[in-house]
This record gives sequence, structure tokens and C-alpha cells, in this order.
Amino acid sequence: MNFLALTPLTADRLPAAVALDQRCLGGLWTLAGYQRELDSPNSDLLILQPEPTSTGLQQPLIGLACLWAILEEAHITILAIDPSYQRQGLGQALLYALLASAQQRGLEWATLEVRASNSRAIALYKKFGFEEVGKRRNYYQDGLQAEDALILWRKGLQHPEFIQTLNLWQERITEQVKRSGWQLSIAATWQN
Ligand SMILES: CC(C)(COP(=O)(O)OP(=O)(O)OC[C@H]1O[C@@H](n2cnc3c(N)ncnc32)[C@H](O)[C@@H]1OP(=O)(O)O)[C@@H](O)C(=O)NCCC(=O)NCCS
Repeated sequence: MNFLALTPLTADRLPAAVALDQRCLGGLWTLAGYQRELDSPNSDLLILQPEPTSTGLQQPLIGLACLWAILEEAHITILAIDPSYQRQGLGQALLYALLASAQQRGLEWATLEVRASNSRAIALYKKFGFEEVGKRRNYYQDGLQAEDALILWRKGLQHPEFIQTLNLWQERITEQVKRSGWQLSIAATWQN
């Protein structure tokens, strides 16, 4: 069994976060951008990484996720799993952790934008109760062809039954990642 830790990002892992961003997202944010998130009380920046070896050697990050708390909303800005580690339930673990954090912060809703063609991510978000509420036409202008963004929305984070939903997700995710050979430890609290 390999041990994985899901924790807030710490300053010593900033370069590893930038490296993962480059591998998964093509360099969305710079080191200064991640540093800003780390310093902001309104951001939660979470990482997934193998536990350090007995010699203390740190390995590359496996996953990265971020939310911004704005008024009653959790804006999910980043969710990424290293391509070599996808389809093992780890994206779900990070999304669960963001929603748990949003719930702990007292936020009412979670929202995000996703490329209309990103069917993997859309399937993941829908599994966690996100619904499509709108579209921003030609929002992504970085390729040869512009692409629409879907706006997804997850309501009910402060409904009493959402705590039970979170507990159920945590159990299921822990089991699923165990089947992929991982022992996952999730930090008890996320907030700065
Ligand atoms: C989206 C992403 C984070 C998913 O991570 P992952 O670790 O592979 O996802 P999981 O193994 O936890 O899968 C969770 C669910 O996502 C969906 N999913 C993930 N990969 C999928 C695929 N290749 N095909 C169809 N559905 C997929 C499924 O609903 C899956 O649930 P299931 O296992 O019960 O079928 C990952 O593909 C990624 O980092 N993509 C690049 C960055 C990105 O697009 N981020 C989202 C930006 S909004």
C-alpha cells in the first residue's frame, strides 16, 4: 500500500505546485500566482502527494485544487491530477475536499467554469451534484478555435443533509482509492 496525503499547500511545495500546473494545465498560474493564493485568507489551495520517504525525500505532487471564497460562493479555480495518476478516484478526493472546505467556511454554493469539450471533468462534477446553469460563448480563446465555457453550480452546501453526503463521499472515495493501491489520509481541517 502506498501512502498519500491530502493537505493544504505549504510554501516549501510551491515549486512542485507550479511543476504540476505545467504538466496538467499548461502553465495556468505562475509561482507568484500560487504564492498569492497561499497568502490569501479567502483561498484554499490543496495538494495530494505521496508521504515523504523515510529519508524525508519529497516526491512530485500528484494533484492540486483551489477555491476562492467570494461572498457565499466557492469558486473552484483549479482541479488537476497528474495524467499518470488519473482514473484512480484521486480527482474525486480533491473535489470532495474542496466541497468539505467550502462547507466548513459556511459557503452556500460552489461554482466553476469548464470547457464544453472537457467531458471527463464535466462527468466528475455532475457526480458531485453540479448542474449546468449557463454558458459563456467563446470564453476560451487560446486554441485555433474559440471554445464555450459551461457554468456549473452546486447548491445546498449548508443544508443539514450535506454533512451526511460529505461523510458518504469520504467513505466511498477512501474505498475506491484503496482499490487502486493507495492509503489516503485527508487533513482534518483546511482553513488557513
Ligand atoms: C478532471 C480530472 C481532475 C479527473 O481526475 P481523475 O483522478 O482522473 O478522476 P477520478 O478517477 O476521481 O474520476 C472521477 C469521475 O470523473 C469522471 N471521469 C474521470 N475520467 C474520466 C474519463 N476518462 N472518461 C469519463 N469519465 C471520467 C467519471 O465520472 C469518474 O467517476 P467513475 O470513476 O465513477 O466513472 C483529471 O482528468 C484532470 O486533471 N484533467 C485535466 C485538468 C482538468 O481538466 N481539470 C478540470 C478543469 S475544470
